Amino acid sequence: MKILIIGGGNMGMTYAESFLRSHITSKDDMMILEKATDKTSGLIKMDIGTIHLHPEECMKRADLIILAVKPQDAPALFEQIKPMADPQQVFLSIMAGVKIQTISAGLGVKKIIRAMPNLPAQIGMGMTAFTSSDEVTRIELVMVQNLLNTTGKTVYVENESAIDAATAISGSGPAYVWYFMNALIQAASGMGFNPSEAELLVSQTFRGAIELYSKSNLSCEEWIDKVCSRGGTTEAALHTYRENAVHQDIMTGAVAALHRAVELGKGG
Ligand SMILES: NC(=O)c1ccc[n+]([C@@H]2O[C@H](COP(=O)([O-])OP(=O)(O)OC[C@H]3O[C@@H](n4cnc5c(N)ncnc54)[C@H](OP(=O)(O)O)[C@@H]3O)[C@@H](O)[C@H]2O)c1
Repeated sequence: MKILIIGGGNMGMTYAESFLRSHITSKDDMMILEKATDKTSGLIKMDIGTIHLHPEECMKRADLIILAVKPQDAPALFEQIKPMADPQQVFLSIMAGVKIQTISAGLGVKKIIRAMPNLPAQIGMGMTAFTSSDEVTRIELVMVQNLLNTTGKTVYVENESAIDAATAISGSGPAYVWYFMNALIQAASGMGFNPSEAELLVSQTFRGAIELYSKSNLSCEEWIDKVCSRGGTTEAALHTYRENAVHQDIMTGAVAALHRAVELGKGG
């Protein structure tokens, strides 16, 4: 299967490297189309497949075409590649907020898979939600899921609106975690730890808590109960968080992200 990745940026290269690392495809079957001439020599040095500047050189040879340009570049890209798009080709879009219907109308094709990955995909720890148009066959869907699985975990959702929800939870989610980490790092610094000690205390605490959580059947609330003793230090912190409605604020923030994802999907 020949794969063409359009957009040799952060996500495009994450995909190319993940596919090759997992040996799910070979360099001979990988093509990258990038419009930025200043980036192509760097891409050639990465030795990840053939690098192209013009769609005429590579579009027709691809079985799977991955759309990895910024959403605002989509209309110009559609116009450029529409004459070469073949209805038998499968298109996998990772562009945030760009709907299957928009891609279908823009390219005149029907086999479309829409995915929402997140940044930890760069290290094979990503979370990707994906959905597809009815015209994508079961075999094609499994093939694409296998490719996406090389970047972390995946979940198939029936309804495209769940992609907006996934954008608000797992797409933006790493930033919420880093926001919480940053506050704790600042608190640790304020308590006298030097920057590297503060970073180590916090990052290892997050890593340990997440590993423990994922290796057990306990819920977050049950784990909190295990750390909290009546009148203890953890309870003092959680009491303050509850008084300040931090839990509610985190939920409200995620809902704001969902509203924004929906708005962007409407071209807002
Ligand atoms: N980064 C994330 O965590 C993340 C998570 C989920 C989804 N996404 C989605 O992934 C997509 C790519 O994001 P990114 O961070 O990888 O962006 P990026 O680093 O800017 O990469 C996009 C690349 O595509 C190139 N490009 C634009 N139009 C093109 C065209 N017509 N033909 C060929 N190449 C073209 C751009 O060149 P120029 O620089 O010259 O414009 C750029 O090199 C976005 O749609 C984003 O919504 C990203």
